[in-house]
Amino acid sequence: MKIGVIGYGNMGEAFAKALKDMAEVLVHEIDEDKNHKALREGFGVAKELDFLVENTQWILLAVKPKDAVDVLNALKGKLEDKILISVVAGMKLSSIQELCESSKLIRLMPNINVLVRRAVIACAFGEVENEKRETFFNVFSACGNLYEIKEELFDLFTALAGSGPAFVFKFIHALALAGVRGGFSYEMAKSIALDTVLGSCQLLKSLGGHPEEWVTKVASPGGTTIEGIKTLEEKGFTGLVMECVERTSEKAKILL
Ligand SMILES: NC(=O)c1ccc[n+]([C@@H]2O[C@H](COP(=O)([O-])OP(=O)(O)OC[C@H]3O[C@@H](n4cnc5c(N)ncnc54)[C@H](OP(=O)(O)O)[C@@H]3O)[C@@H](O)[C@H]2O)c1
Repeated sequence: MKIGVIGYGNMGEAFAKALKDMAEVLVHEIDEDKNHKALREGFGVAKELDFLVENTQWILLAVKPKDAVDVLNALKGKLEDKILISVVAGMKLSSIQELCESSKLIRLMPNINVLVRRAVIACAFGEVENEKRETFFNVFSACGNLYEIKEELFDLFTALAGSGPAFVFKFIHALALAGVRGGFSYEMAKSIALDTVLGSCQLLKSLGGHPEEWVTKVASPGGTTIEGIKTLEEKGFTGLVMECVERTSEKAKILL
């Protein structure tokens, strides 16, 4: 497969690197320094957008929303049967279709974890035939886990999975600070917190079950953990996290 990546910024670079074992990647970027970087990192560079379009079958649009309109206008009438994959936040399939006059579209909402090929990625399809969808799933699963969702759930997904890593980082930092308060160095406390979160996620993913079932396995009657759980509940931890996601999702709706 040949994939053209338009925009070699945070997302374009991360996707290009995650996809490089699965596809031949050609980059088009307006910033000369980033073009050189892409070349150094082993990718082909197309100086002209038209060259990229002519030489690839799949095109990943990874520019900021403010630049996407110009790029989509420039793609108008040139896409033929090519598949355009957009990671542009907030730009609906209908708007992309209107601008580039193609319906062979895939809309993605990735998160930053694509940098380590463990992204959580929402996808919604335009008129993309089944065979192409299968190819897409095979190739893009190199970037992480794909979830096909209804487009109206993209804002909520953006809050849960797009912003989600920031909430997890905040939680890890809070655990680390608690460790520092008790006498650990920040580095060691962060490492302990990180391994605890990582191991708990692996346990839940591998062994399954409801998270609360595992809480009861850790929090023995009259033990130490239940004291901490009581504090979390008294301070409204569950409601706080739910409200955090709800407000983030509302903001995503307004921004986009
Ligand atoms: N970053 C995230 O965590 C994240 C998560 C989900 C979705 N997204 C979406 O991903 C898209 C890219 O975000 P990003 O953070 O990767 O942005 P970014 O780092 O700014 O990368 C975009 C790159 O595209 C270049 N560019 C601008 N106009 C171009 C054009 N006409 N042709 C070719 N290249 C062009 C920019 O160059 P200049 O810098 O010189 O303008 C920049 O290097 C956005 O639409 C965003 O909504 C990002």
